[in-house]
Amino acid sequence: MEETRAGEANAESRRETLGWLSKVGMVAGLVAAYGTLAAFMGRFLFPARPPARGWMFVTEVDRLGPGSALRYRTPAGAQVNIARQGKGEAASDFVALSSTCPHLGCQVHWESQNDRFFCPCHNGVFTPEGKAIAGPPAEAGQSLGRYPLKVDGGLLFIEVPLDEVALGPGEIVDDDYSPPGPGHDPCLYPCNCRDAAGRA
Ligand code: FES
Repeated sequence: MEETRAGEANAESRRETLGWLSKVGMVAGLVAAYGTLAAFMGRFLFPARPPARGWMFVTEVDRLGPGSALRYRTPAGAQVNIARQGKGEAASDFVALSSTCPHLGCQVHWESQNDRFFCPCHNGVFTPEGKAIAGPPAEAGQSLGRYPLKVDGGLLFIEVPLDEVALGPGEIVDDDYSPPGPGHDPCLYPCNCRDAAGRA
């Protein structure tokens, strides 16, 4: 009789524990569900804004003749090829693309005679819009990053992150920029190319 009562008490205690655990689980589930909903609503009501960007003066439009290009360094040190591909004076007559090859980091240059950007290290070829069409960058689907441009009052501006604008002006690093001649020998255009293992 005594044992039966003890067994019933144990069973009751187990039921209470199970009931308590299931309530805790239910509350935790509700908290998680409402938390997810709140986060979703927060993102919907207050969407993340893209980083602010600003315009930075590059050069007078007249200084960059049709077919020519210059290399510009942003205040943060990014190298950019700015080429005048059209004959007009609108922003659409210019293009600004990262001059750092996405393959192994050599410097890409504009070849107006071939209407392309070219990387001499491994013969990477890019369209005037920066899309890789030959060489290792094309095989890997790596294209050149593009920067927006605007022309205002005969002056050319490039768009960069606002915190770069605060760093001060960028600079033209190769004003008299002329594409290298034929040959494309990587030895003539050395770079600090390294593969993933750090080999040159
Ligand atoms: S680094 Fe440009 S093609 Fe290899």
